[in-house]
Amino acid sequence: MASTRRPLIAGNWKMNGTLADGVALARAIDAGARTAGWTDRELLVCPPATHVAAVAEALKGGPVHAGGQDCHAKASGAHTGDIAAEMLAAVGARFVIVGHSERRTDHGETDAVVRAKAEAAWRAGLIAVICIGETLAERDAGRTLEVLSRQITGSVPGAATAANSVLAYEPVWAIGTGKTPTVAEVAAAHAHIRKALAAQMAEAAGVRLLYGGSVKASNAAELLAVADVDGALVGGASLNAAEFLAIAKAAQSG
Ligand code: PGA
Repeated sequence: MASTRRPLIAGNWKMNGTLADGVALARAIDAGARTAGWTDRELLVCPPATHVAAVAEALKGGPVHAGGQDCHAKASGAHTGDIAAEMLAAVGARFVIVGHSERRTDHGETDAVVRAKAEAAWRAGLIAVICIGETLAERDAGRTLEVLSRQITGSVPGAATAANSVLAYEPVWAIGTGKTPTVAEVAAAHAHIRKALAAQMAEAAGVRLLYGGSVKASNAAELLAVADVDGALVGGASLNAAEFLAIAKAAQSG
């Protein structure tokens, strides 16, 4: 890993927990991160939209960032049920996940929509965590790298930089299933993604590439040691403070 890319361990809480649960989880992660005193890695938690303000407030001034799980491409308007990147920024979010496979599947989000959302994140001053990844059918058909190339071209705006974007490689079949690709498969995907990014943006070398999909404390060290893996996007295991902190501990710096 290039020493300029500080590992990012990001928790995606998805649609889980009450507001009280979320604030308690954030406080526990904050306390653990303060005790650890890490300066060589970054931590992020992305609670449900209703919890972002309170979680950001609970984390204020500490080492853990708060983020959203999604945003609309527009800054305001007649979009029932949606939230704008500006609204997340206003309550203390620093990041927002865009293009998660559950958004792509449940809400029919296309690469073009994801790209517009990444640009919306930047407009609001947020860092976009742009997700890509192949389905099992695509992997079985030997199309993984081709799918990743297509998603990068379609979902990652040309103006992406290390300062405004993070990429997350999440094989759809590894999300929430307990299955992970082999270390060699992760290495091949990440090397391909970095090359594809370099083809379309000036600063690709500094962009962090996270691995996501069934990351837990017991497999984190192995996955985080893979070349070109600059952190993790963690779903289920991020709902437990001790487990999430153990994953963060496993991150390799510089
Ligand atoms: P998981 O989810 O860790 O529960 O597999 C990862 C994600 O969807 O970001």
